[in-house]
Amino acid sequence: MTRKDIPGVLEVEKTAFPLSPYSKEVYESILHDPKAYPVVACKNGEIAGNAVIWIGRDAPWHDSKDDPQKAYLFTLGVKPSFQGQKIGEQLLYHVLSACVGAGIASCTLRVMEGNIPAIHLYEKFGFQDTGKREPKHYAPEGKDGIHMELKNMQSQAFKEKLEEIGKKLKRF
Ligand SMILES: CC(C)(COP(=O)(O)OP(=O)(O)OC[C@H]1O[C@@H](n2cnc3c(N)ncnc32)[C@H](O)[C@@H]1OP(=O)(O)O)[C@@H](O)C(=O)NCCC(=O)NCCS
Repeated sequence: MTRKDIPGVLEVEKTAFPLSPYSKEVYESILHDPKAYPVVACKNGEIAGNAVIWIGRDAPWHDSKDDPQKAYLFTLGVKPSFQGQKIGEQLLYHVLSACVGAGIASCTLRVMEGNIPAIHLYEKFGFQDTGKREPKHYAPEGKDGIHMELKNMQSQAFKEKLEEIGKKLKRF
């Protein structure tokens, strides 16, 4: 992702997260953040989705401390008109592969309770519900935040799982 992608990414935000989109200022700060790894997915000449992961930094509920073995998935979204076409999976595959390459051992994220498409996608890669909840974190929706974690990212088993997912994605 570069500065010129910001308008397209804000369109993803507005449509994928209509009640709580991240702002232009948030994305501008992401572009200046050395721990942030922002990526976009393009289809038919437009930005269809985007993801941002912090590589080498822990989750906000751990005070966003720098930690060379931790990653935190800050956001992942696909425009509704492009959903169901494996774009979310491609984006997640891409950022998690970058984490493995960077020596990351575990990745956390926060997801809204009841967000079944996202939870299924995260489970597909091996994320598990940690059981921790942030009551009403998603205030406009009145929903709790669920913490999920993917562990053992440097294990052979995880690398094989990622490779398998990558092979299937090549067919799309
Ligand atoms: C969650 C989201 C990123 C998924 O992206 P997508 O491109 O539509 O999903 P994909 O086509 O890549 O699907 C990959 C996997 O996700 C899961 N999934 C996707 N849509 C699903 C649905 N409607 N119901 C259940 N699982 C679903 C499945 O596990 C699917 O794998 P499968 O096809 O083998 O079953 C997308 O729905 C989105 O942007 N939602 C709104 C924003 C959001 O909630 N982001 C997550 C914030 S934590």
